[in-house]
Amino acid sequence: MRSLVVAVLLLLLFAGGELGAAASSKKKKECHSSDRDALVAFKAALGNPYHFASWTPDASCCDWYDVDCDDSTGRVVGLSVFQDANITGTIPDAVSGLTHLRTLMLHHLPQLSGPIPPAVAKLSSLSMLIISWTAVSGPVPSFLGALKSLTLLDLSFNSLTGAIPPSLAGIASLSSIDISRNNLTGALPPALFSKLNTSQQGAYLRLSRNNLTGSIPAEFAAVKFEQVDLSRNALSFNMSGLRLQEGIGSLELSHNVIYGSVPAQVAGLSSLQYFNVSYNRLCGELPGGAARFDQYSFLHNKCLCGSPLLACK
Ligand SMILES: *[C@@H]1O[C@H](CO)[C@@H](O)[C@H](O)[C@H]1NC(C)=O
Ligand SMILES: *[C@@H]1O[C@H](CO)[C@@H](O)[C@H](O)[C@H]1NC(C)=O
Ligand SMILES: *[C@@H]1O[C@H](CO)[C@@H](O)[C@H](O)[C@H]1NC(C)=O
Ligand SMILES: *[C@@H]1O[C@H](CO)[C@@H](O)[C@H](O)[C@H]1NC(C)=O
Ligand SMILES: *[C@@H]1O[C@H](CO)[C@@H](O)[C@H](O)[C@H]1NC(C)=O
Ligand SMILES: *[C@@H]1O[C@H](CO)[C@@H](O)[C@H](O)[C@H]1NC(C)=O
Repeated sequence: MRSLVVAVLLLLLFAGGELGAAASSKKKKECHSSDRDALVAFKAALGNPYHFASWTPDASCCDWYDVDCDDSTGRVVGLSVFQDANITGTIPDAVSGLTHLRTLMLHHLPQLSGPIPPAVAKLSSLSMLIISWTAVSGPVPSFLGALKSLTLLDLSFNSLTGAIPPSLAGIASLSSIDISRNNLTGALPPALFSKLNTSQQGAYLRLSRNNLTGSIPAEFAAVKFEQVDLSRNALSFNMSGLRLQEGIGSLELSHNVIYGSVPAQVAGLSSLQYFNVSYNRLCGELPGGAARFDQYSFLHNKCLCGSPLLACK
């Protein structure tokens, strides 16, 4: 008799636990109808590709592939579509219906083309915008400056052209930018570097493999990036005057047309682990701090000398 009572109690406990779990997972999976409508329109605009086969009405949109909901509000906060060569078309305007979106990632979609649509600028909660390894073309739109919550902007490996818009300086939360491997031209906007959020850990600036010209603005000296890669552009300025913040770990400036000499201040930064100014037009004796890097950091310049290169004559 006693064992029967215990068994029944256990059964009740078990059932209760199950019900509790079911209730909480149901709460988690609720889908807001306007989010669902926006996703359905997004999928339709891309021609209902197989990629979105799990996006069916019988499942909550929070359970759909590539979709992430906030546990407490149930709103769609993440859409991360990646790695599909069959997705063809332009970035759907319907994305603007996902009004609570914090992360938008369109990555490795080689047939995604056309410009970045103004609809993206309506996503006022967006913290991370990643459009990379696509055939997206046109400018880096000035209207991205409207994304006041953005911390990361990654537009690398696309076919973007034109200049970096100064409007990005209006984003006070922005700390990391990667627009490498595009066809950007023009100079780096000085205002950008007076406004970036330098208190963010691990901030980086990657603009390698474009066709950027001009100099690194003086304002750059105030920004505490952990990593800077401006290699393979057409930047042309006198490096003698360059000053950088302690805290920078990696500075890649190879394959530009930088002249002048390597400043002792920069070579001497104790945080600097990687430094590359090879393939430029630098000249003169390297400062003492340069000796901790190897010769490959300095090769192919006009007339650099001193350790780790050959002694000056
Ligand atoms: C892409 O389309 C081809 C041909 O229709 C198909 O065989 C392949 O499985 C598709 N790939 C993906 C990732 O959907
Ligand atoms: C950049 O422009 C050049 C010349 O117009 C072109 O050949 C190249 O494919 C472009 N690269 C990208 C990444 O768009
Ligand atoms: C800048 O970054 C810090 C550290 O992550 C954060 O606390 C602060 O709110 C950010 N400032 C702005 C304006 O977003
Ligand atoms: C880069 O800019 C230079 C000078 O404006 C131009 O001659 C060259 O064709 C450009 N290269 C590419 C790949 O766009
Ligand atoms: C670079 O700037 C330094 C210091 O201002 C100056 O002495 C030097 O002549 C300049 N080099 C070139 C090539 O303009
Ligand atoms: C610097 O860049 C050049 C050119 O891309 C490369 O050959 C060299 O290995 C790099 N130096 C270091 C220290 O990695």
